[in-house]
Amino acid sequence: MSFSSPQQRQAFIAGIPKAELHLHIEGSLEPEMMFALAQRNGIDIPFASVEEVRKAYAFSNLQDFLDIYYQGMNVLRTEQDFYDLTMAYFNRIHTDKAIHAEIFFDPQGHTERGIAFSTAIDGILRAMGDAEAHLGITSKLIMCFLRHLSEADALATLEEATPYLGKISGVGLDSSELGHPPSKFAKVFAKAKALGLKAVAHAGEEGPPDYVWEALDLLKIDRMDHGNRSLEDPRLVERLRDNQMTLTVCPLSNLSLCVVDNLTDHPLKKMLDLGLRATINSDDPSYFGGYLNDNYEATASALNLDKDDIVALAKNSFRGSFLGEETIAQSLRRIDDYVARFDG
Ligand code: HPA
Ligand code: ZN
Repeated sequence: MSFSSPQQRQAFIAGIPKAELHLHIEGSLEPEMMFALAQRNGIDIPFASVEEVRKAYAFSNLQDFLDIYYQGMNVLRTEQDFYDLTMAYFNRIHTDKAIHAEIFFDPQGHTERGIAFSTAIDGILRAMGDAEAHLGITSKLIMCFLRHLSEADALATLEEATPYLGKISGVGLDSSELGHPPSKFAKVFAKAKALGLKAVAHAGEEGPPDYVWEALDLLKIDRMDHGNRSLEDPRLVERLRDNQMTLTVCPLSNLSLCVVDNLTDHPLKKMLDLGLRATINSDDPSYFGGYLNDNYEATASALNLDKDDIVALAKNSFRGSFLGEETIAQSLRRIDDYVARFDG
């Protein structure tokens, strides 16, 4: 069914219960918080104002962004910093009617600059507990390996995570994609899976369909992050569709990093029409100009998504989550109730 007006579409998107499955917590660091933490921790940052920071957020590819993303996280020093960062994200998505989030963090981005693994994860986990207690938002934590570093480094990071294994749901793979294929991390992913962790990986954002095949066949992922370039390979599309592999698609990120030239060219609608289990996510909202609902709204507007598309995207966000079967079923019923009330 189509919407009667853009306002009706906006209201429908604003209220539908949803989950976020692709969010780098360090990418939710707003410039205002960057300045506040720099001051709190006595750190110099190479920007004179919030406006100057935002102006620097003009990227022509993934690496452009990553350079500034790693620089930005330098203000995160204490457990309280990680708590404040994570809590600000939960407070923000609460207004978007997100009721569940599966959050990435990049421990190597912190340990490499002398911040203890425990400092980062303790702050994030404390905020996750408070978000559930005070906002009713459930969450899971996914530890990503930086693919521009070695597999030995990733293995050492997995080792470091040992005391926290009960609190980490899965491992992921992010950072510079080109030249760092999933095959480079086959051993560490096998080890993580043997420990009972879920596996996800960024693939097909800038990298070729071969990288997506490798993520499926060698890393044995449970969910695919981005996956845009899968559409170049019809056999791969078939594989993703037949397995109902969830794709965590990030439209405003894709626009910001020039993965697409224009949102009207974005493949999201095509993915849904091909029967792929696509979801909408924000990736690094403070860097890419929008949180969850901004991504839904911009994409719906550019691709003329109808109510069934929005419902499918919201439902896919739960189907693709690492929540238990019963909680997923409950969340899908919550969406059905919302749709019935909205129509009624
Ligand atoms: N791609 C790869 N690595 C990342 C991203 C991304 O979009 N965001 C943070 N690390
Ligand atoms: Zn990402």
